[in-house]
Amino acid sequence: MREVTVLGTVAAARAFCEAARAGGATVGLVPTMGALHAGHLGLLRRSVAETDVAVVSVFVNPLQFGAGEDLAAYPGGLRSDAALCAAEGAAAVFAPTTAEMYPAPPAVSLDFGGLSAVLEGVLRPGHLGGVGVVVAKLFAIIGACRAYFGEKDWQQLAVVRRLAADLSLPVDVVGCATVREADGLALSSRNAYLSPAERAAAPVLHRALCSGAERIEAGERRAAAVEAAMARVLATEPLLGRVDYATVAAADTLQPLDPLAGELRLLVAAHLGAARLIDNIGVTVASA
Ligand code: PAJ
Repeated sequence: MREVTVLGTVAAARAFCEAARAGGATVGLVPTMGALHAGHLGLLRRSVAETDVAVVSVFVNPLQFGAGEDLAAYPGGLRSDAALCAAEGAAAVFAPTTAEMYPAPPAVSLDFGGLSAVLEGVLRPGHLGGVGVVVAKLFAIIGACRAYFGEKDWQQLAVVRRLAADLSLPVDVVGCATVREADGLALSSRNAYLSPAERAAAPVLHRALCSGAERIEAGERRAAAVEAAMARVLATEPLLGRVDYATVAAADTLQPLDPLAGELRLLVAAHLGAARLIDNIGVTVASA
């Protein structure tokens, strides 16, 4: 079994990464909230392939959970997460306590303008700002690195890219393709909340996205028609609860676009039993 160093403090994580860079190594960062699955491990594998020293952070960030969300229920298990990281070749796991990350409630807050005024930004007020603060802290602690994020959380990836660019942080943000089950369901720690019947129903999100993408590929350029096609597929699943959105937007800014053109992202968020599931896929409309 390979060894992985578990770092519990900000000072230890900073010293570990500074020592690595001083020795000429490149550092990779894979930020997670633990409960690691094959989606997370895909990011780690990419980091291990592209950087000398891969650091996985495991921290359930209270700042990005709203009242009534699943902070208390969020699945955990540092021991098994560390073993998975070791098996994949991570050099270190940074797993601070909440008190270590937030000795005092942060006075700083981050707003991402139009990017956080749509979709998850509307449905989960404060969520993207909370992600921004913890990721900014991780970037400040780990220092110059390549940082790996999943396309699964497309709006989060867009926010993190802006964070690094707008604040000139010494971090290359790398987006990684969504890892899916054979039936199309995107891997997520929250899939653990699904009953067997709900799990069987869950791929309807991916089917809805694919149906929207097919419409665009067949020449549809009206956003409303694409959204209606997605809504029709979602409506076929009786177990599905409230649909928060099933929409198409510009891939980089996430603003609505009509007629559809350029790099697009189809995005869906819906409730299924106790879980709130999100997913997205990309489509490009070549300019005429
Ligand atoms: P978490 O949900 O644990 O996800 C950690 C990283 O894994 C994110 O970049 C997410 O997009 C990626 N990921 C999750 N499921 C994936 C899948 N099926 N395929 C590919 N990548 C996947 O996202 C967070 O944690 C937090 O918001 C965090 C960035 C750590 C800040 O607290």
